Amino acid sequence: MLQLRHTSSMPFLDNADFTEEPAERATTTGAGAEERVLENELRPRSLADFIGQEHLKASLGVFLQAAQQRGEPLDHVLLYGNPGLGKTTLANIIAAEMGRTCKVTSGPTLEKVGDLAAILTSLEAGDVLFIDEIHRLNRSIEEVLYPALEDFALDLMIGKGPGARTLRMQINKFTLIGATTRPSLISSPLRDRFGATFHLDFYTDEDMQRIIKRSAHILSLAIDDDAVVKLSAATRRTPRVANRLLRRVRDVAQVENSATATLDIVSKTLDMLRVDHLGLDHGDRKILLTIIETFRGGPVGLSTLAAAVAEEMETLETVHEPYLLQIGFLERTPKGRCITPRALEHLGLPVVRRD
Ligand SMILES: Nc1ncnc2c1ncn2[C@@H]1O[C@H](COP(=O)(O)OP(=O)(O)O)[C@@H](O)[C@H]1O
Ligand SMILES: [Mg+2]
Repeated sequence: MLQLRHTSSMPFLDNADFTEEPAERATTTGAGAEERVLENELRPRSLADFIGQEHLKASLGVFLQAAQQRGEPLDHVLLYGNPGLGKTTLANIIAAEMGRTCKVTSGPTLEKVGDLAAILTSLEAGDVLFIDEIHRLNRSIEEVLYPALEDFALDLMIGKGPGARTLRMQINKFTLIGATTRPSLISSPLRDRFGATFHLDFYTDEDMQRIIKRSAHILSLAIDDDAVVKLSAATRRTPRVANRLLRRVRDVAQVENSATATLDIVSKTLDMLRVDHLGLDHGDRKILLTIIETFRGGPVGLSTLAAAVAEEMETLETVHEPYLLQIGFLERTPKGRCITPRALEHLGLPVVRRD
């Protein structure tokens, strides 16, 4: 059990370390519209080019090969994992490996049944349909999707009232790839219709270093080995964050007239972005300090915490919390989130143990 010595002045709060929000968060794991365009140039195109997630690649490789040998489309696939770990990339790779096009849509953009019907009828045999954020599909659309997934059929309602009847229409066989950051929000009938589910985990440090080197090469940026190591520690084990930080490193190197991104350039970039050596930013520190100061170290429920830091619950749950849990700064208990001694040490706060 952990107890906090409750001093009246917590050093970080007094310093008001988080009063001003940096213009753009460098470590947020979600991608904006502009970023999605930039991301494309760094996206691996084949399974061989996709770094890390060895276990996933091995099983996916087998499924792909088996489907190809049978000359059939791949079974429907569900990909889940935190933002920026490679779900969209994998969906495109699967389509490319199958030699098919990938049609992309997302849960929130599919508003009307007709939108989905239009997409489904436009699919050619063997095409891949990628539905991002599939946990946000509404119920009526999900129901149209079930027969499409199971029987490659579309049940259309003709007419209204007592005279209404359904008309079944065949569509081409296709592969659905669903991506989600919140698998628990997918209804069980939908979940059951996926032939395979793959989980993307945080990357290892070695993987992150390889990803940084690969991206630096594509961006024509020379980077020192010690600079790669330093940068990789700040990437939250997430490729999207790595690529974003790397772009800022390139900016700093350019402005400093440095032909190579050195350790010094990387340190400067991280300082500028107020990202610490573990990749924690202003938002993470605010969360940790709020748990300490306002909730005496926890436990605190997620919704209470979200209100206290004025952040959306979903952002807290998918962007901040997974990494803080992963590095052992937060603990999830039945009563809520608790701070750990490790987090206190990192923040330079006193730790008192009650045994
Ligand atoms: N395994 C990987 N190897 C190299 N780069 C990767 C890998 N996974 C993701 N990326 C890069 O990270 C960025 C974000 O990946 P993306 O597939 O869009 O994440 P998600 O859809 O899970 O949010 C992409 O630009 C891609 O280039
Ligand atoms: Mg994505």
